[in-house]
Amino acid sequence: MIYAVGIGPGDPDLLPYKTVLLLRKASVIAGFETVLNVARKHFNPEAAIISMGYKDQPEKMELVGELSRQGNTCVVCFMGDVNFSGYEYLERIVTHCKEPNPEIIPGISSAQIAAGRTRTAFETAVFITFHKRGDIAQDKEFLALALKQGKSAIVIPLPWDFMPADICQYLMDSHISGKTKVEVFEHLTWPTEKRYTMTIADCKQTFSDVSLMVISPSK
Ligand SMILES: C[S@@+](CC[C@H](N)C(=O)[O-])C[C@H]1O[C@@H](n2cnc3c(N)ncnc32)[C@H](O)[C@@H]1O
Repeated sequence: MIYAVGIGPGDPDLLPYKTVLLLRKASVIAGFETVLNVARKHFNPEAAIISMGYKDQPEKMELVGELSRQGNTCVVCFMGDVNFSGYEYLERIVTHCKEPNPEIIPGISSAQIAAGRTRTAFETAVFITFHKRGDIAQDKEFLALALKQGKSAIVIPLPWDFMPADICQYLMDSHISGKTKVEVFEHLTWPTEKRYTMTIADCKQTFSDVSLMVISPSK
C-alpha cells in the first residue's frame, strides 16, 4: 500500500495524528529531502528512507512502487496538503510507482495557515496556484476576474517566473487598483516566518521561493 500524506507547512507538530501514527510504523518513507526533514522526528527509526530530487525522482518512485508490491507499508510525504497544488507530484505515484490508487491523508496546507493569519474564509476567497507546468494564462485571467468580483485570493507564485512582483504588475496591467492590499508570507510556521503587508503598487521586492500571497479586493 502507498499512502500520500501531507506533512504540513513546516512546523513538525502540525501533522494529523493519523499521519504521525502511520510514520511511526511505515517501513518505507519517501519524499524530497526538505519535505522529509519536516516530519523526520516522527519516522519509524527502522524505516528505509528514500530521499529524492527532481532529477532522480522517476527511479526513486519506481523503487517505492516495487517495495510496496513486496508488501511494505510505504508513505510518500507531500509538502502541506496534497490537495493544494500537489497533484502533479501525486501523478508520479500513479505513473512511476505504478500504483493507481494511493490513499491520500490530507495535511494542513500553507494556504490554510495564510487564511488563518489574514482571517480569510475560503468561502469568500479563491485559491490559485501558478506553481505548475504548462500554460498559466487562464489562471492569471481567473485571478484578475475573481478580484474584480470582490473575492480575496490566496495565491502560490511560480518560482522564479511569476513571483509576487510579477503577479502584482500583471494585476495592475489588468486594471486592478494599485491600492489593492497584498500580504506576502515567507516560510509560514517556520522559525524564520515573515509577513509583509503592502499595496500591489508597492510590491516590487524579491521574495523567497517558499512564499505565498493573500490579495484582498479593494473596498
Ligand atoms: C507545489 S506548491 C505545494 C503547496 C503545498 N501542497 C501546500 O499545501 O502548502 C509549493 C509552494 O507552496 C508554497 N508554500 C509551501 N509551504 C509554504 C510555507 N510554509 N510558507 C509559504 N509558502 C509555502 C510556496 O509557494 C511553494 O513554492
